[in-house]
Amino acid sequence: MRVINPDHRLIAHKLTYLRDKRTDSPTFRRLAEELMTLLAYEATREVRIEPFEIETPVGPTTGIKLSNPKPLIVPILRAGLGMLEGMVRLLPSAEVGFLGMQRDEETLEAITYANRLPDDLSGRQVYVLDPMLATGGSMADAIKFLVDRGANDITAVTLLSAPEGIAHLQAALADVAPPITLVTGAIDERLNENGYIVPGLGDAGDRLYGLAQ
Ligand code: PRP
Ligand code: URA
Repeated sequence: MRVINPDHRLIAHKLTYLRDKRTDSPTFRRLAEELMTLLAYEATREVRIEPFEIETPVGPTTGIKLSNPKPLIVPILRAGLGMLEGMVRLLPSAEVGFLGMQRDEETLEAITYANRLPDDLSGRQVYVLDPMLATGGSMADAIKFLVDRGANDITAVTLLSAPEGIAHLQAALADVAPPITLVTGAIDERLNENGYIVPGLGDAGDRLYGLAQ
């Protein structure tokens, strides 16, 4: 698995405000979208393309366009939804599928409670969005789910990642054939005893949408 952590001052600046516990939900939502758009620039560097003939007012030239089938974007509910707009702003023609996953806060195991994805993802390029990579259990399960359906190029985009989560993903996906890339806004220090990223930003879903019942 390739890990990309873009070194950019605007990303660090926006992440600082996202982490700040005084940041309210509307501002948090706006920052998550903006950060996603900045990370999307890096994550889509190798989006699949094909040549495209056009004529400028001055003459013919060969450009490029996105290949078919178009990329599939998969936000992991709930918190990944906060990144979706920032991604489709750059890839408006992409398709969007949904995976609902929730971490059991006692065992830290991920439970998949919703799936609105095509059964057949053969040959698809997929972008998986989730702000937090903590133990890595949710993202590892999501990526395996997509690979089992035939996806053959997967880029995970997270706002924050814990070193433990990256190590878990590396191990869990060691035998997965398709290329996997992780693009993350920051690699934090560690996980705490409750499985939260330190310094992190707290519970991303709650900060985006309020307390889950
Ligand atoms: C959060 C986050 C990830 C997961 C990360 O979701 O959005 O999906 O935890 O933890 P992991 O790497 O240890 O698996 P959560 O389960 O809190 O659900 P939510 O998005 O509905 O708030
Ligand atoms: N999920 C979150 O929302 N935050 C963390 O720090 C870990 C998992």
